[in-house]
Amino acid sequence: MLKLQRVSAICGLLRVLVCHGVSAVPSLALAEPDPSMAVSVQVAGKTFVNKGLVAFGLIPSNFTDSTGNTLGGIGSAIAVKPGSFAPQGDGTFSGTFIVQPDRGYNVQGTVDYQARQHVIDFVLSPYYGTANLSFTAAEQTLQLDYRSTLLYYERNGTRTTGLDSLAIRPQQDGYPQNVLADPPMPIPNATYNHLCTDAEGLALNADGSWWTSDEYGPYIYRYSSTGNLIQTIAPPPAILPMVDGKLNFTSVVDPTTGRAGNQGFEGLSLDPSGQTLYALLQSATIQDGGSDKTTSRYTRLLAYDIVNDMPTLAGEWVVPLPITNKKGNTLAASEMHSLGNGLFLVLSRDGDGHGGGDDHSSYKQADLVDITGATDIHNTVFDSPTSPIAVNGVLNSSITAATYTSFVNYINDTQLARFGLHNGSPADQTLIDAKWESLSLESAHDPAYPNDYFLFTASDNDFITMDGISVGVPYNAGLNNDNQFLVFRLTLPDTNLPGR
Ligand SMILES: *[C@@H]1O[C@H](CO)[C@@H](O)[C@H](O)[C@H]1NC(C)=O
Ligand SMILES: *[C@@H]1O[C@H](CO)[C@@H](O)[C@H](O)[C@H]1NC(C)=O
Ligand SMILES: *[C@@H]1O[C@H](CO)[C@@H](O)[C@H](O)[C@H]1NC(C)=O
Ligand SMILES: *[C@@H]1O[C@H](CO)[C@@H](O)[C@H](O)[C@H]1NC(C)=O
Ligand SMILES: *[C@@H]1O[C@H](CO)[C@@H](O)[C@H](O)[C@H]1NC(C)=O
Ligand SMILES: *[C@@H]1O[C@H](CO)[C@@H](O)[C@H](O)[C@H]1NC(C)=O
Ligand SMILES: *[C@@H]1O[C@H](CO)[C@@H](O)[C@H](O)[C@H]1NC(C)=O
Repeated sequence: MLKLQRVSAICGLLRVLVCHGVSAVPSLALAEPDPSMAVSVQVAGKTFVNKGLVAFGLIPSNFTDSTGNTLGGIGSAIAVKPGSFAPQGDGTFSGTFIVQPDRGYNVQGTVDYQARQHVIDFVLSPYYGTANLSFTAAEQTLQLDYRSTLLYYERNGTRTTGLDSLAIRPQQDGYPQNVLADPPMPIPNATYNHLCTDAEGLALNADGSWWTSDEYGPYIYRYSSTGNLIQTIAPPPAILPMVDGKLNFTSVVDPTTGRAGNQGFEGLSLDPSGQTLYALLQSATIQDGGSDKTTSRYTRLLAYDIVNDMPTLAGEWVVPLPITNKKGNTLAASEMHSLGNGLFLVLSRDGDGHGGGDDHSSYKQADLVDITGATDIHNTVFDSPTSPIAVNGVLNSSITAATYTSFVNYINDTQLARFGLHNGSPADQTLIDAKWESLSLESAHDPAYPNDYFLFTASDNDFITMDGISVGVPYNAGLNNDNQFLVFRLTLPDTNLPGR
């Protein structure tokens, strides 16, 4: 199978720089980001620092996976495989990403795409200088090497599907007392009894099993290391999609209560101890204002205690998402990452950029959310669809929402230019992608800065390529939209993260 070119990182970078005659070579000697690039914010009395963009990488839009299908959508979720990330002793780092696409190329309706994850090795060669690299040189700073693909199945070996859900498989005997019995499950129709999955979040357990969150349920599934379903977590009734009190999992039409169509659990993360699983709804439920972008900012963050085999809802908080300056539209959340101690990174954004609505994006950020002063509403009336937390987008006065603080800006022109990238027209290969949907953190392994971390993030390119294969069928989406990756270096003080 095709592999991406892998050159010795620093040599490759030097070669390209010399070739292009950029006077940035001395900056390569920098062991840390140029201090002039640091942007700080205060949260919970502590200083969080964005030291800037340090790497960029891509996988071409037409790249195919081992099943012969276009490899796309992979930034829906990424995680660094536990224990894989390591300094190489020369300023570079190696590691392995596990990436999880959503439901395949579905621009013209949903397709029978089996959920999956890919294994991608990487070499990170952080670039800390202030001079602008060429795009060709920038691409070498995060080299990506596709290795393999693992497909998702139910317990009996039935493939999952990306098709929309118009029918429901009844809950299994013993649900909910029996942890291994399924709740009502989304299926395409009564005769095609496959589990509908629009995978969005990914959290890896230490034992090799993992959690995948989805938009249909919206459910959280635990899979074995071989890709077989183990158990399913259904959220409280307030979040389940119901039409006049009756479950309906379709993503095409909004329900009357519960998650809006295609606004499921985009965010999924284990806390650093691995004992609490957090899930973030993309935007407000319908009863909380989710039927309109001008009223959908009050979304919910859930915590599940997963110490025992029976995951139990242990917390629920309201997160006030940012809104656009012009129309007051909600900038929905595409990912969340737990920092421990009640703090989270939340990735909120518009849909503009390469492959999106407009070439010019106005908001793409990994921001800081603090729930320590927020009201815990789990197991209260608000878990019922008849007690909204926000009517028409006005938060119930008995609830204190989490705090939301602006932090890492993906579309800073100065930072993008350092990597040959830009925001706004022209819509060429160097335009930043529209849909960033993933976050992963690893220690920078720098004794001088023990609180420094690399933030890895990748885009969901919606499988947009002019040379695609979807479930064995060739397609041309009219545009080549690469799978882009960005890496930032951050100082995250007094969090609970590993590797310090
Ligand atoms: C963009 O990044 C530069 C540092 O490279 C920083 O000085 C500036 O404040 C940033 N702008 C915004 C709007 O964050
Ligand atoms: C992808 O496109 C590039 C550039 O057009 C081409 O060189 C390459 O062979 C293509 N790869 C695949 C796997 O189709
Ligand atoms: C697989 O299991 C599900 C229930 O978990 C069942 O509904 C379905 O019919 C089974 N499929 C096959 C092919 O046995
Ligand atoms: C769900 O809603 C869709 C669209 O309105 C409808 O076609 C489908 O029959 C409904 N499914 C169930 C299980 O009621
Ligand atoms: C059920 O869905 C499958 C897969 O899309 C489709 O081939 C089949 O025609 C559908 N059956 C009915 C009765 O709608
Ligand atoms: C807040 O929610 C509670 C519980 O549903 C409800 O009784 C109360 O009227 C609401 N308050 C406001 C100001 O809407
Ligand atoms: C980097 O590129 C930006 C955007 O093209 C430009 O404004 C800036 O002057 C360049 N910086 C240097 C040091 O060349």
